[in-house]
Amino acid sequence: MSQDDQKSAVSAREAMGVFVNFHVAYRQARVYEQNNVQFQERIRLLFDTFQKILQTGEEVQIRIVQDSVFLNQIRLKFNFSNFHVYLFILEEFKNWRIGAASFLPGLTEVEMQSFIIFLSKKLLPQSNSFERLAEDLQAAAFAHIRLEKIPAAEEVKLVGQNAVPMYFLGIYHLKEIFDARHGVLNLHITKRWIQSIVNLLALDESILFGMTTIKNFEDYTLNHSVNVCVLALSLGRRLGLSRRELIELGISACLHDVGKFEIPNEIVDKPGKLTSDERALMELHPQRGAARLLQTRTAQDMPVSAFVVAFEHHLTPSLGGYPKYHWRRETSLFSRIVKIVDYYDAITTKRVYRPKTFTPEEALRLMVDLSGKEFDPILLKAFINMIGVYPIGSLVVLDNCEIGVVIQPNANAAFVKRPKVKLISDTRGNKLDGGIVDLVEPSGTANGFKRSILMSLDPDQYDIHVYDYLLSQAQPGAAGRAKPEGKPSAVRPTAP
Ligand SMILES: [Fe+2]
Ligand SMILES: [Fe+2]
Repeated sequence: MSQDDQKSAVSAREAMGVFVNFHVAYRQARVYEQNNVQFQERIRLLFDTFQKILQTGEEVQIRIVQDSVFLNQIRLKFNFSNFHVYLFILEEFKNWRIGAASFLPGLTEVEMQSFIIFLSKKLLPQSNSFERLAEDLQAAAFAHIRLEKIPAAEEVKLVGQNAVPMYFLGIYHLKEIFDARHGVLNLHITKRWIQSIVNLLALDESILFGMTTIKNFEDYTLNHSVNVCVLALSLGRRLGLSRRELIELGISACLHDVGKFEIPNEIVDKPGKLTSDERALMELHPQRGAARLLQTRTAQDMPVSAFVVAFEHHLTPSLGGYPKYHWRRETSLFSRIVKIVDYYDAITTKRVYRPKTFTPEEALRLMVDLSGKEFDPILLKAFINMIGVYPIGSLVVLDNCEIGVVIQPNANAAFVKRPKVKLISDTRGNKLDGGIVDLVEPSGTANGFKRSILMSLDPDQYDIHVYDYLLSQAQPGAAGRAKPEGKPSAVRPTAP
């Protein structure tokens, strides 16, 4: 028994049960009636644990401290299987600016149940979320529930620390999936990973966007598949897809290139031009992918969109491209989303067979030229709005000759060309670990700015790994070891 257990009326396991049951009850409250049997069962389980603590005269307190979640004095240790619960708690607390929720002795099961229903059905206001929630809580007369606002200095700043391991975990998880020779895909794990990514995107997209500048880590197709999944989910969120649709989109995006594992590596990675036979074989990967997914033993659990996207992701909206396909008029929404993010990630990745690697800015320009032919114009517009003119991870030269990496877009649409930049070289070209400059900073002269972007550069030409700088922002103290070289054990999410 740990020290924490000895001091507490409940064990660490029971404390974890509180969060799992709270998470499930909260979701059930959104869709079920109050008298639903399953919902009632969750409430009972949750209240049983609450009672064990309340009977000792102590209150039950859920508190977020920096990157950790506490139940009274027990610090919760989440693992991969329940990581989505941790992110859910963080997201809820961050949205409402709650630092702690306390349940006081005298609390009844009915009061606790009403509170969960109350919270689950509340719409997040535009501003002053905590004050609005506290007012409504008072009006609803929850006598034994008290909320504390998160102190300004404690505003949740955890996303980076979770996004980094979660991103790499995705690559290793896909490796396991693609290596599976027995035709079994554990979609349960894939779904949980996608849920975590969706939660992280809701907290802060910028770090995961930055992670997608990592290319060719472990294996091109694996790394590429995770990037495509992250970007597709982000675009899907902006399009207002439901959580369920996002999970389906995420699975489809992760598995879109599964057919490439049916093509010999000598062809997939061949430097130089493919022969016509090799190209024909390569262009079979959509059919091979869809067929492979259909043949898996868990095919019945797979969303239909996974087969469709694997088959359609190289087709244009009007069915140009490959494979030849005549029995539909247009490709599906998910295929059109994946088509865009797949193309973007592919042409911004250095490959032996591709003569040119595009900078993000060049890639977007090319894609605009192909709008309507290759890509759905409306979705492409939404994608460009999402990525920004200078996406996170762009290497840029400033008008005073400094060089920097874009680390945060400007939220103001009027200043899309003025993101925040981390300086990595001075005006003479000397490398430095510089500060972060905001390009809206005025120069002091009328209508002038201190710095502006002159152009973007190809990081490969300068042998610069932009993700080193992005990861050092995401994980304080991680600079210098940011270039990922570890194996799964080094990157598994050690839960905060
Ligand atoms: Fe593909
Ligand atoms: Fe792809």
